[in-house]
Amino acid sequence: MDILRFYINGKLREIDFSRSDSPPLSCSLLHYLRKYEKMTGTKEVCGKGDCGACTVVVAQKDEVTGKEKRFTVDSCLMRLPRLHGKHILTIEAPPQYLQTEPIRKAFLRERASQCGVCSPGMVLSAYIHVKNDLPLNREEIQRSLSGNLCRCSGYQSIMDAILSLGNDSDIESGGELPLDFPPMENRMITFVQNGLVYVIPHNIEDLFDARKKYPRARIASGFTGSCMDYKGDVIDISAVCELLQVMVTSKSITLGAACNFETMKKELGRFYPYMIAYLDDFGSVQVRNQATIGGNISDGSPVGDIMPLCLAHDAVCVVCGSSGQRCIDAARFTTGYRQVALKPGEVLLRVEFPLAEKGTWFFAHKQSRRRNMDICSVSFAASVKLDGKKCTSVRLAYGGMAAIPSRAVQTERFLKGKVFSLNNCRKAAACLERDFSPISDIRGSAAYRMDVAKNMLLLLYESYSGNHDRA
Ligand SMILES: Cc1cc2nc3c(=O)[nH]c(=O)nc-3n(C[C@H](O)[C@H](O)[C@H](O)COP(=O)(O)OP(=O)(O)OC[C@H]3O[C@@H](n4cnc5c(N)ncnc54)[C@H](O)[C@@H]3O)c2cc1C
Ligand code: FES
Ligand code: FES
Repeated sequence: MDILRFYINGKLREIDFSRSDSPPLSCSLLHYLRKYEKMTGTKEVCGKGDCGACTVVVAQKDEVTGKEKRFTVDSCLMRLPRLHGKHILTIEAPPQYLQTEPIRKAFLRERASQCGVCSPGMVLSAYIHVKNDLPLNREEIQRSLSGNLCRCSGYQSIMDAILSLGNDSDIESGGELPLDFPPMENRMITFVQNGLVYVIPHNIEDLFDARKKYPRARIASGFTGSCMDYKGDVIDISAVCELLQVMVTSKSITLGAACNFETMKKELGRFYPYMIAYLDDFGSVQVRNQATIGGNISDGSPVGDIMPLCLAHDAVCVVCGSSGQRCIDAARFTTGYRQVALKPGEVLLRVEFPLAEKGTWFFAHKQSRRRNMDICSVSFAASVKLDGKKCTSVRLAYGGMAAIPSRAVQTERFLKGKVFSLNNCRKAAACLERDFSPISDIRGSAAYRMDVAKNMLLLLYESYSGNHDRA
């Protein structure tokens, strides 16, 4: 059985899970840092990815280029065994590994820390913003800090502190030494503790070997969906190389099921720029660095953000089990409330998005009570193929309007063959009442949901006319 090896702030750690004093396999990185390392700089508030107080920097070798990459995660969502092969940097890291001093000084100068509980997470999110050379303007900084809450409401002074940094070259490049990493093993890793297993397959072959060997083990990907509180046997697919691949052909762009949402934003955003703003509203940067496309779709949630996109693009889900691979249209993948078409033992391998036909207009919008870190009341994704001004094909996909994400078939039928105009979109909105009977819950009443769904059609037209008619 394997030993867990990773670095924290320049120091190698080795954990043998068979020892009685080792942390449990389900231990979070946050709990490990505070209880076992006595590093209390990383704070705990919500314990479920909502506040960013527990933000840390993860460094790892890029699977393709082999170069070091750094990103933030919520350590409360990060399982300890996932650190294998990585280097973790916390607020306590010495400056030769993590240049946070200019940021900390700016926080002091601008009085951006009051009770201080949010400050370590804020500083690390700001660090990654500057390190990745993102523009130092209000909008971009807000985006990078969307996962960090300040209960003392010091946002203005935090913003002022980060804006005051200028382009600090110490953080961007100089001063930091290259990080050490445990050797890459390129094989299946198995941790065992008191009869429980945590397996990290390296490739598809390993994955199906693990499936046979541990039939009761649950597939887990980012641990931000229904796996968040799971404590049993795990097959962690986050390192399966085939599931991390992005393939582009002349006909489609395909994302491996273990690709996270920052990868999805970057890769699909190149072909479909409209998706970038939509995906920016998904969770927070920290959550998007962990949560995966496969986990979102496989959870079968009626309010998951990704299925409406898949429906609007007529995407195809490729799954694999003991009897081989099969393709399932996105429209048939969710079969009921939190139920999907995966048979026992099957795994979602990848999702294929066909490249757009010329003359197709896309749009997506998520309506939630808070812009970030919130589940939608209603989400919407649409594609309208036009011949001149006439709609020749229409796909209108909604989340939050039924037990599963669904297309508005009657409304689509109404618009098809008609001129794409504000007037026709207004008339089409009335058809939505025949397509959906939404329910009332804490995220909105049935009437509110219906109003929002109708307004989404008008937004769709506005997004199109804003780009075409005014040109
Ligand atoms: C703070 C926070 C904010 C969030 N914000 C949003 C949001 O804005 N929008 C949204 O839609 N969701 C949101 N979520 C929910 C969650 O992040 C997403 O649903 C995410 O995509 C789940 O992916 P995961 O990899 O973490 O799934 P996991 O929890 O690892 O897995 C989820 C389920 O899918 C199964 N599974 C995973 N991968 C596969 C596969 N390849 N094949 C077969 N089964 C598989 C697992 O067995 C499990 O049943 C949020 C969650 C948190 C904690
Ligand atoms: S403690 Fe709130 S996100 Fe981790
Ligand atoms: S300073 Fe108190 S939570 Fe931000």
